[in-house]
Amino acid sequence: MAELDLRDLPDFTADPYPYYAKLRAEGPVHTVRTEHLERLWLIVGHEEGRTALADQRLGKDWRPRGGWKASEAPLNANMLELDAPHHTRLRRLVVREFTARRIEALRPRVTEITDRLLDAMVPQGSADLVDALAFPLPMTVICELLGVPDIDRDAFRVLSNGIVTPTPEQRDADPAGAMSAYLVDLIADKRRSPGDDLLSALIRTTDEDGDSLSSAELVGMAFLLLVAGHETTVNLIANGVRALLDHPDQLALLRAEPGLIDGAVEEMLRYDGPVETATFRFAREPVTIGSTVIPRDAVVIVALASADRDPDRFPAPDTFDIRREPQGHLAFGHGAHYCLGAPLARMEARIAIGALLERCPGLARDPSGGELDWLPGLLMRGTRGLPVRW
Ligand code: HEM
Repeated sequence: MAELDLRDLPDFTADPYPYYAKLRAEGPVHTVRTEHLERLWLIVGHEEGRTALADQRLGKDWRPRGGWKASEAPLNANMLELDAPHHTRLRRLVVREFTARRIEALRPRVTEITDRLLDAMVPQGSADLVDALAFPLPMTVICELLGVPDIDRDAFRVLSNGIVTPTPEQRDADPAGAMSAYLVDLIADKRRSPGDDLLSALIRTTDEDGDSLSSAELVGMAFLLLVAGHETTVNLIANGVRALLDHPDQLALLRAEPGLIDGAVEEMLRYDGPVETATFRFAREPVTIGSTVIPRDAVVIVALASADRDPDRFPAPDTFDIRREPQGHLAFGHGAHYCLGAPLARMEARIAIGALLERCPGLARDPSGGELDWLPGLLMRGTRGLPVRW
């Protein structure tokens, strides 16, 4: 077992894969230390990661361990931070409304928003792909789905980034408190004048047993959906396009056979997915993985990015191959907390990347756009911008 000390590895964020490969060669479980975090237990193997994500002994509910900061509590009381039976109950209530039909019905709108964004971008000849497409598409879709008014979206982006990938200044500014206050007001508005959006539906929803979401649970759910709904998909689109641009043979193949887009997006998820590590889990009792005993109360993270480059699961894992059909990748997690938004994320990425290639022949990275600025922290993988030209 080795210790990965990220304080000594400034190049880790830009390319963690060689470090993960080295760790996997030594074993499936290690520890990691970062500037902001105490020692965490890190699972790097695919089989072990998949098993851990479904292991009931690795809990998500932080409350028995002392709870959250008061300002963050309303946001953190969401189903990704809870275990059965609370998690099961909340997930059941949202699944009733977050149906395949509701998502499929968004397809024409996703296409329309993509076309509108590309109409504005294409005449320019060069752009920051994150600002022009990868960010506004999922943000607009999730806000429309939930019923967040247009005018609030820029402020919302700042708060959301401040929570998920904070700069040191943002860390001090309490974006969670501001977000929480914003959502309390939004939900009060929806109660007064409901629409046909998902948030209004979640306010109304009641299951067979008469169960429904409390006001606090609605805040947590709205937060989870809004943040999970765009912070991730923006990086799927941007990381995916970056992978294509860095592999001209794969780009040419996809241009020649646009029907490969579904498999290409799966490979983008496997090769450089947006969620580098799953969220924290806590060992409720000692858990043995391989020959390592993870002690009770330890904080455990599964490195999804490492699991999906495990050569025992995916041959030649560092090769980006859009024909690979990488079934079983862990980019959307696994087990009870498997991503609720996977069908929506896939739809958005397929439509956005397909349309981008069609409308921008000769798409390439734009070297005059400067160095890539990698998102800090272990949770998300992506860059704050992606300069491109065509
Ligand atoms: C490419 C885009 C996306 C990726 C890679 C992704 C990835 C993930 C992962 C890895 C998890 C599990 C985390 C864990 O177990 O620690 C998760 C959970 C979740 N995701 Fe996504 N996600 C994406 C898009 C979305 C979208 C668009 C939505 C909503 C509209 C969404 C909503 C959720 C929710 C609600 C959960 C928690 C589920 C639960 O606790 O039962 N995600 N996602």
